[in-house]
Amino acid sequence: MVVDDELEYGNMVQKMLQEMGHACEVAEDDFEAPARIANEQFDLVISDQHLLKPNLAKPYEKIERQVMELLIRRILIVDDEEDYRMLVYRLCQKIDHGYSCDLAANGHEALDLIIRGRYDLVIADIHMYGFTGIELMRAAQELYPELEFILITGHAPEYEFSDIIDAGASDFISKPFALGELKAKIGRIEKEQRVLRSLRESNLQLSESYDQLKLVLEDLINALGSALEMKDLYTAGHQKRVSDIACQIARNMGLSHKQITAIRLASLVHDIGKISIPSEILSKPSKLDELEFGLVKRHSSIGYDILKRTPFPWPIAKIVLQHHERMDGSGYPQGLSGDEILLEARIIGVADVVEAMSSHRPYRAALGIEKALEEISMNKGILYDPDVVDACLMIEDCCLCPDPSRTAPRQTEAAQSLQ
Ligand SMILES: [Fe+2]
Repeated sequence: MVVDDELEYGNMVQKMLQEMGHACEVAEDDFEAPARIANEQFDLVISDQHLLKPNLAKPYEKIERQVMELLIRRILIVDDEEDYRMLVYRLCQKIDHGYSCDLAANGHEALDLIIRGRYDLVIADIHMYGFTGIELMRAAQELYPELEFILITGHAPEYEFSDIIDAGASDFISKPFALGELKAKIGRIEKEQRVLRSLRESNLQLSESYDQLKLVLEDLINALGSALEMKDLYTAGHQKRVSDIACQIARNMGLSHKQITAIRLASLVHDIGKISIPSEILSKPSKLDELEFGLVKRHSSIGYDILKRTPFPWPIAKIVLQHHERMDGSGYPQGLSGDEILLEARIIGVADVVEAMSSHRPYRAALGIEKALEEISMNKGILYDPDVVDACLMIEDCCLCPDPSRTAPRQTEAAQSLQ
């Protein structure tokens, strides 16, 4: 918006800005302009300075206060020279709307006030009897790290500006100083605070959106897991049980919250690739032939293909791909060995074996938890990660036992009802 009481000038500036590609409006007088600025969205106001005479400036101040919430409200002024203390106080009262100010005659008195009240800014002399301004600042910022300080001194040559800032001050003024200087320094601190606050708000929004996205992705995983279980009732509950055992192993190994989340979610879909395998093969009541077993073995790669394009914040697709890899390289699909296999996949691999052996399968009855634990103990360090096996053996047997509701007859009935 261009504000000028001389219409000719206003139009000229508008024309120039429009030629530069900016949308631009002209307000002819300073009474029309404040109302439009308050009610419409402008990014920049270019105004003839002579409009801003003291008696006409009020509407602009009002707008500024509406648009920008004041971030500095309470100021503590600390100086052992009463004249200077009162001078700074009077100057602060003259700035725009005037600040709410308290006064302290030395550092100890100031620290007492800081402890009792909430200040946004402290303006303190450096050279004071007893506590110096820098000592006061350090003590106060121990309690309120974000408390802003402007330090004042009549001995400026003794200090390096950068040392004062490094010590924690927001700014530095040397005596004597004028109202304009103090006003500009407080204004700059407010601007910085505004930027900081806006950054924090953006970060908060970003983190909320990220949390929301994680919930949506978790829902997606649960939906995928359920989709497979609707097709293959023999694995109904298997993925959930593997997830419980794998998370318990991960907790026993002291893994991070992020790793445990990855393990929990990847376990819930570790066999998702079986969705592409015919139900007759998945529920075949006898041993699979070579061709059928070859098809079943493709499920980890198919699971990877299903999941790889979704940008999970955890390596879900890779874990699913590797859950049948074995430490000695005898697993599939890539024949990885040792540390080439993700730890999360090594954990799910062990949990998968324990759960599968202790549960009924279409082609055999449950082998029992003892057999399952014997299998992982015998092949500890050969097929299975020894640390993972140790962590699995720490789990109480009752937590490893399959859900008693998952009995063979019921599953057989369910499988038959699918056909
Ligand atoms: Fe599997």
